[in-house]
Amino acid sequence: MSTLVIVGTQWGDEGKGKITDLLSENYDIIARYQGGNNAGHTVVLNKNVFIFQLLPSGILHKDKVCLIGNGVVLDPEVLFQEIENLQKHNIDIKERLFIDYKTHIILPYHKITDEALEEDKDSRKIGTTKSGIGPAYADKLSRIGIRVCDLIHTENLSQKLDMVLNQKSDYLTKNLGIELSKNLVRDIKEKYLQYGKMLEPLAIDGSLFLEEQIKKNKNIIFEGAQGTMLDVDHGTYPYVTSSNPVAGNACTGCGISPLYIDKVIGITKAYATRVGEGPFPTELLDSLGQKMREQGYEYEYDAATGRPRRCGWFDAPVVKYANRINGIKEMVLTKIDVFSSFKKIKICREYRIKDQSHYYFPGDSELIPFAEPVYEEVEGWEEDISNIRSYQELPDKAKEYILKIEQFTESKISIVSVGPERTQTIFR
Ligand code: IMP
Repeated sequence: MSTLVIVGTQWGDEGKGKITDLLSENYDIIARYQGGNNAGHTVVLNKNVFIFQLLPSGILHKDKVCLIGNGVVLDPEVLFQEIENLQKHNIDIKERLFIDYKTHIILPYHKITDEALEEDKDSRKIGTTKSGIGPAYADKLSRIGIRVCDLIHTENLSQKLDMVLNQKSDYLTKNLGIELSKNLVRDIKEKYLQYGKMLEPLAIDGSLFLEEQIKKNKNIIFEGAQGTMLDVDHGTYPYVTSSNPVAGNACTGCGISPLYIDKVIGITKAYATRVGEGPFPTELLDSLGQKMREQGYEYEYDAATGRPRRCGWFDAPVVKYANRINGIKEMVLTKIDVFSSFKKIKICREYRIKDQSHYYFPGDSELIPFAEPVYEEVEGWEEDISNIRSYQELPDKAKEYILKIEQFTESKISIVSVGPERTQTIFR
């Protein structure tokens, strides 16, 4: 039996989808433990592009079982669209996709609230994906969330929804000037009853299922969404998502003991990007940042929302910080091929903050505005490396870049990804 947590070490969009799909080959079960359809995990298979927002990225392997854990917030509309899209490619999920009974549901009022808060001039703009993630997690913590089990056991559903909808109507009217129409309330009740019926065949006790599979020596991947710097506890708060992408949450988000986690692997992009507001010390606001955005396949436009990603140099204090929090000793370096036409490449080795060197991203957010990145420059290799399949064949200058990242982050890079396809991968 072996288990692996896959976690992003930056602000998301590190390429977790490709790597989860790739590594799934050697695992039996792939479980998502947090986030929702704010994620957009891209998997490219024989030039077909799949973007998974809720389905675990191992789903394309027809013999693998996938679980959406209790720590996820689930928008049924998005889930069933994804399933339908897979069926168009002749990929069936029957008896191999399961969802925990305890998974919280995103309802229309969560999306309405998320959108309204983003647009409200008196609220702080976070730049969310407007998919209702924050409001759904807020209801979970306020103990008024609706879960998969509530949609299945319909006897009490109408009463539960009445209670919540009354509260929501009051809040939305008083604070954001939005009226929930009677039709919408009626539609929610009808539609979610229907979703309950559709979810029932997929619903299981995820924690018990994983325990049984672990006892049968099955291999499990726990797939994180977003990245460490978007973690609600450890990220650049308040410019974060509302869940814990960090590896520790694989246990809470799937209902398994920490004793079952064997290994954590960090997915790290060869440069840094972020979508939405918030601090980004190595951000490039000039033509180089624009070049990174354009050279990155998917063009560094967000897979879930289509928004342009902010781009900047590799930030070692960020990755070192993420590696510490997640227990990462081994990383996968993605998208290094994006630098193929760069003459010079910079790496932020440390920050200077008030005349002191900082090798980790500071835990005290008040220090972040003072962080001045200290860069080391390496020569670019100025050739296409996307067809290279062995480490030895990489240009020396690309190897030098990889070694510098290892040196500054004090961890090993065991896989280098040079393109979006499964085959564009170098195992070291
Ligand atoms: P939310 O998760 O939609 O509430 O958005 C909160 C912040 O996290 C925003 O800055 C989003 O752009 C960012 N975010 C959420 N999910 C992702 C993701 O999968 N990749 C990158 N950024 C994300």
